[in-house]
Amino acid sequence: MADKKIAGDIKGYLYYLRDIGIEELPVKKAGGSGQGSGVVNPDTKTFGVGEDMSLESVREELGDCKRCRLHKGRTNIVFGVGNPNASIVFVGEAPGEDEDLQGEPFVGKAGQLLTKIINAMGLKREDVYICNVVKCRPPKNRNPEPDEIATCRPFLEKQLDAIRPKIIVALGTHAAQTLLNTTEKITALRGQFYWYRDSIQVMPTFHPSYLLRNESKKGEVWEDMQMALKALGLKIPEKKGKT
Ligand code: URA
Repeated sequence: MADKKIAGDIKGYLYYLRDIGIEELPVKKAGGSGQGSGVVNPDTKTFGVGEDMSLESVREELGDCKRCRLHKGRTNIVFGVGNPNASIVFVGEAPGEDEDLQGEPFVGKAGQLLTKIINAMGLKREDVYICNVVKCRPPKNRNPEPDEIATCRPFLEKQLDAIRPKIIVALGTHAAQTLLNTTEKITALRGQFYWYRDSIQVMPTFHPSYLLRNESKKGEVWEDMQMALKALGLKIPEKKGKT
């Protein structure tokens, strides 16, 4: 218990240093000469600092979850997929039918569009992390209820604590409202950055399902993704054809 607390404190201090611009620290290797011989980076698993806060441990804690009514209709828990050290995380609303059957987020029609958006950003699905606010499919794809979101929220927060991305893209109203603790609509929120826990920038944008019904909004999503790429210090690829 005490070890966990110390590891948590060290990790928090490393994030604080990163937030004020210190990305690396010289460290002495055990049994080394006393000269700096390595680096500590809060985004890596150096020293095992992140071990008890890993995605695996979050998944383990979630277990065969029956904390809310959504477990009754699910085939699979849809936890999340992608790079555990991703600098950008995409958060959707809830699994749909395809996701429930496959146990992976964003694999249906909306997911294929999300994959195209990620690819248009010059990234692959494996480079980023993708998850949802709630991990089980709501019946008939209805919106998740506030109490279901509240029950699942700690697991989303722990996933984000484990990954510590630089940017979170909140896909649609439910993700944006959950992450930003607001009741504002996505139309009002999108197009600018907000802070999640004072250290991670959140870019709310339209949900890919909404884009499937409103093609004309794709340009706005591309503008939001360009802002995300800029904030990550990545080059904005030239747009090739239609997404
Ligand atoms: N819509 C979501 O919000 N999440 C998914 O995983 C699929 C569709």
